[in-house]
Amino acid sequence: MTIGNVIGTPLSGTATRVMLLGAGELGKEVIIALQRLGVETIAVDRYADAPGHQVAHRGFVIDMTDPKALRELIERERPHLVVPEIEAIATDALAQIERDRIAEVIPTARATQLTMNREGIRRLAAEELDLPTSPYAFADSLEALRTAIAGSIGFPCVVKPVMSSSGKGQSVLKSDADVETAWNHAMAGGRVKGGRVIVEGFIRFDYEITLLTVRARGADGAIETSFCEPIGHLQQAGDYVESWQPQPMSALALERARDVAAKVTAALGGRGLFGVELFVRGDEVWFSEVSPRPHDTGLVTLITQRQSEFELHARAILGLPVDTGMREPGASAVIYGGLEQRGIGFEGVAEALAVPRTDLRLFGKPESFAKRRMGVAVSAAATVEEARERARTAASRVRPVRAKA
Ligand SMILES: Nc1ncnc2c1ncn2[C@@H]1O[C@H](COP(=O)(O)OP(=O)(O)O)[C@@H](O)[C@H]1O
Ligand SMILES: [Mg+2]
Repeated sequence: MTIGNVIGTPLSGTATRVMLLGAGELGKEVIIALQRLGVETIAVDRYADAPGHQVAHRGFVIDMTDPKALRELIERERPHLVVPEIEAIATDALAQIERDRIAEVIPTARATQLTMNREGIRRLAAEELDLPTSPYAFADSLEALRTAIAGSIGFPCVVKPVMSSSGKGQSVLKSDADVETAWNHAMAGGRVKGGRVIVEGFIRFDYEITLLTVRARGADGAIETSFCEPIGHLQQAGDYVESWQPQPMSALALERARDVAAKVTAALGGRGLFGVELFVRGDEVWFSEVSPRPHDTGLVTLITQRQSEFELHARAILGLPVDTGMREPGASAVIYGGLEQRGIGFEGVAEALAVPRTDLRLFGKPESFAKRRMGVAVSAAATVEEARERARTAASRVRPVRAKA
């Protein structure tokens, strides 16, 4: 089957099969978008009843960092496309699957390898592509970290495990007194044992954006790059709490942002949507990191764009044309679990949805944690300011409660 020409019938011999590795709230929306195009979907996660499991044709629970388990499942299910939704995957197994032509890895196996480790993507961006980034160094010990900061990085700076996401293990350091605490925090918060960190000079940006960038087939069959309007966002403790679109930018900053995004996504290759994170001060732009998949701050596109980031990803990976156009300004605000329990309830949903031009996503996660993202409110308005106010109001009206069965 050639991706882009024919879509088969789900659950038949002709089906176009797509496997999502990771089935959280972002994967769930990608699966829904694929379902609408008549694609057979397979959701994989490390725990049962993940959001994406609840809407896919089939669901599996495996340890995706186990190369053997991953390979076996892909050989058994024979998806045409394998679509990673998270970073914690045995990416070497994906590379082998790509080499053996068992399935196409989205966007490419190399992109998943480079972006799962901050060192891979940072060296690619700064050293090979010569893109502007914060000053940085890598360290394998507390001593090496001290030396790196004293040598070229200075204070304030940011320390992060090379393998981590959602701000885990990350700290901002103001002086020598913070170094040991930051090192220990990074060792506790990394995804894998073995202590390697990146230390970055702190960028005093005016604002930060996610530039959603799509690599999709154009009319002549060649890959074309297109951009969504920039998304501004607010991070608290390394986790996004609010996002909005469009983020106003100077013409020069926008041009530079697109240039950086085009270069880094071209280097990663393949088809699909990427979330390119950039820091901006005046006309100056720094590359921060990139997700080769939909981005959490891009949930706002569920209300702002003709095609959400999830629909764009679905179309791009299937080899179909995309439209990155924005319909109107909008914002998203995160709903946290607040409590630690399985099977919680949500009160105040009607009050939240009474906010004008507002929609909710409750992800259906089986277990709540205080700081787990359980849902999001998205609002549209004539201005970003009004949309942010609406989204915040709606999110605050949803109250997670201990529910009785
Ligand atoms: N060098 C830096 N200078 C200033 N702020 C930073 C820097 N690095 C990270 N941050 C802040 O921390 C947030 C999370 O960092 P990021 O590298 O994106 O980690 P993650 O992979 O966990 O998302 C960023 O969105 C930004 O707000
Ligand atoms: Mg980030």
